[in-house]
Amino acid sequence: MIEITQISKTFSRSARVRAFARGSHIETEEDRVVRAVDGVTFEVRQGEIFGLLGPNGAGKTTLLKIICTLILPTEGGGIVNGFDLLREDRRVRESIGFLPSTERSFYYRLTGRQNLTFFGLLYNIPKARLKRRISELLKLMGLEEKAEEKYMKYSSGEKQKLALARCILVDPPVLILDEPTVSLDPTAARSFRQFVLSLKKRGKAILLATHNMYEADKLCDRVAIMDSGKVVALDAPSTLKRKLASDGVMLLTLAEERKTLIEKLRALRTVIEIRREKETNCYHIFIRDGKKTAERVLKICSEYGMIIRHIAFKEPTLEDVFFSITGGKIE
Ligand SMILES: Nc1ncnc2c1ncn2[C@@H]1O[C@H](COP(=O)(O)OP(=O)(O)OP(=O)(O)O)[C@@H](O)[C@H]1O
Ligand SMILES: [Mg+2]
Repeated sequence: MIEITQISKTFSRSARVRAFARGSHIETEEDRVVRAVDGVTFEVRQGEIFGLLGPNGAGKTTLLKIICTLILPTEGGGIVNGFDLLREDRRVRESIGFLPSTERSFYYRLTGRQNLTFFGLLYNIPKARLKRRISELLKLMGLEEKAEEKYMKYSSGEKQKLALARCILVDPPVLILDEPTVSLDPTAARSFRQFVLSLKKRGKAILLATHNMYEADKLCDRVAIMDSGKVVALDAPSTLKRKLASDGVMLLTLAEERKTLIEKLRALRTVIEIRREKETNCYHIFIRDGKKTAERVLKICSEYGMIIRHIAFKEPTLEDVFFSITGGKIE
């Protein structure tokens, strides 16, 4: 349903920002441009939920905007619902429901219902059908009581729910959601996730950017992790977790920090990675061949006379994968 090939986007940095960043060195071409998206290729199939993860500024929103035809790519192209992204942009737009991350595109002085009616009429939905559809969606989003209130009186979560309602007003085959649950309360977020799963069952292709690792793990068939404009990992969440630690994670809280000991553990063939929680001195040891490796780790600790304060085991999470790939810290 969505197929993008080698998409790149560069923005030019403003002269003022460049002047601020400049210092003493001579300006190069790289200083003048930001490569927000850098050669991204992937596909999202019918009935698939595809997650886009990545640190702030990784290029997720830019990529989603390109797929929605809101901005042009500098290079590359793609097909959405059988239509060419660059040459058939109008048909592409008709195929997509888009939920932008910052919602500034509603009319503040109109009520929720009036806003949805306005956008529905832009889509040329016949009035009687539109009226029914809007009532249905307001109910689904739990906004019935707010329907006749002006948009400016909505809370962030209510605004987000209204934006979701607009996104599925015409029941498009492709949904593109930029951080859809960001201001929803836990109950609303949960019912939203169930709703997205029901859309998947109905064969929609759903592309979703999120910072919520739990959500990505629960919902997505596959995820792409982006960093500095590039896709640095792409697979099913379960596969990514297995690659990081096929036999789980050993959590070892040591009495003190001892670099040589950690280096020795790191050198073990079945230890994939070790990360340290600074505050607690707890080491997260991602391992293969669980029991044997755990025994070896303990043996080495005892050789070093190291006091172990606590041992536990856990399954790797998508968050672990994210930190491992993007180099973030364990909090
Ligand atoms: N219109 C623009 N002009 C110049 N630079 C831009 C523009 N839009 C985005 N950028 C830059 O492109 C890069 C990617 O931004 P983008 O919004 O796509 O990131 P993101 O992955 O969505 O981040 P976040 O998680 O914070 O939403 C950033 O460095 C950003 O500053
Ligand atoms: Mg974004």
